Amino acid sequence: MSESKKIFRVGLGVCGGIAAYKAIEVLRLLQKANCEVRVAMTRHATEFVQPLTFRALTENYVLVDDYDENNPDPIAHINFSQNIDLLLIVPATANVIAKFANGIADDFLTSTYLASNAPVMIAPAMNVTMWNHAATQRNIAALRKDGVYFVEPIAGELACKTVGTGKLEDVENIADQALKLLVESRESRVERENQTLDSRLSTLDLKGESLLITVGGTREAIDPVRFISNHSSGKMGFAVAEMAAKRGVRVTVVCGVTTVSPPANVEVVRAVSAEEMFQAVMKKLPEATIFIGAAAVADYRPKNVADAKIKKTDQVTLTLELEKTPDILSNVSGNRHGNLLVVGFAAETNDVAAYAKSKMVRKNLDLVVANDITKKGAGFNSDTNIATIISRKGEIDLPLMSKRELADKILDEVIKLRQN
Ligand code: PMT
Repeated sequence: MSESKKIFRVGLGVCGGIAAYKAIEVLRLLQKANCEVRVAMTRHATEFVQPLTFRALTENYVLVDDYDENNPDPIAHINFSQNIDLLLIVPATANVIAKFANGIADDFLTSTYLASNAPVMIAPAMNVTMWNHAATQRNIAALRKDGVYFVEPIAGELACKTVGTGKLEDVENIADQALKLLVESRESRVERENQTLDSRLSTLDLKGESLLITVGGTREAIDPVRFISNHSSGKMGFAVAEMAAKRGVRVTVVCGVTTVSPPANVEVVRAVSAEEMFQAVMKKLPEATIFIGAAAVADYRPKNVADAKIKKTDQVTLTLELEKTPDILSNVSGNRHGNLLVVGFAAETNDVAAYAKSKMVRKNLDLVVANDITKKGAGFNSDTNIATIISRKGEIDLPLMSKRELADKILDEVIKLRQN
């Protein structure tokens, strides 16, 4: 299988029919389209195709019976069903269709159907009389009503030598329809999420608050051409500023060095070094009701900044003496006025929650947002983050999400603090 990032996760359910071997071709087509496929088979399906075939092709354990002693996952039907973007049944027998329609969960595949929120697509294949039977058609109608998609069987000569409708649709067509459904489902999920976000934002639930936020990285000069800095892009801090403005907050961004532009409807004050950022924050602090330190501020700066470019000499090493910068966050929390809420970020590489909690106590914060910057999709420069929001009352572990979504969650916690 290709090592590139898979775009969709498909659970392929294979039932006991002569067309079971065609599921192998569907599997290969989906893999070629960069899908990650896991296979579940009914007991009868294994009479037609060996699980080993699917195991070799997917490099994954094939689930038939979750009580099997070789099954590596004790709650496989839940883990399998909740980690797929589509459950695709190829071929589906009249028996499995009947079980799905009636909520019968007496094996792994039927339990997975009940335990999954993913869209379901069924490609039936069976004898023409079984297909036309009133019971089968009734079950199919019930499943359609439940939102299940069907790839209808086609007419042709069937395995039993009769001619009529019941033959599995062409594998290319099944794979195409599955991919189309995956794309449509993803688009409508994103649209739903955006609608929810937009309708919540329009409530202006933070109106009256005034946010002062530091964003981006700082640059600490070594000489007129060189500096010490970090990888902050400004995306996280700008996302908080944008969401806050949309929720009715008056926002001032004290902005270090960023690779992206600030959002609309916020006041921007530029500050390149930690010292400049500190001065700008202290000046604006009296107007703020919430302070958030999202910037990656240098903890140390060169003690003496050379007036002219430092020249290369014969010496093999060059020692720079560094001194501490002002800790902006600690100064803010040490100068609290009224009911100012103070929120910090913690960018950590190990013992994330423990270090973040100690920062919360040491810097006297109301809330700290800990991001493990070693995780893929988290921390510097990505559009997503993985964070734990920690307050004195507890912590909330959040999965991978966009920085805008995380910003919204942080603001939800700020509101809760305000209501306490
Ligand atoms: O900008 P992006 O590319 O989107 O990346 C986002 C981010 C990783 C920069 C952001 O999510 C983040 O974690 N920001 C804080 C990074 C950091 O400097 O963490 P820290 O653990 O060193 O500092 C802890 C807190 O003290 C931070 O709120 C920081 O702003 C503040 N601090 C630190 C030093 C200092 N001299 N003054 C400060 O105010």
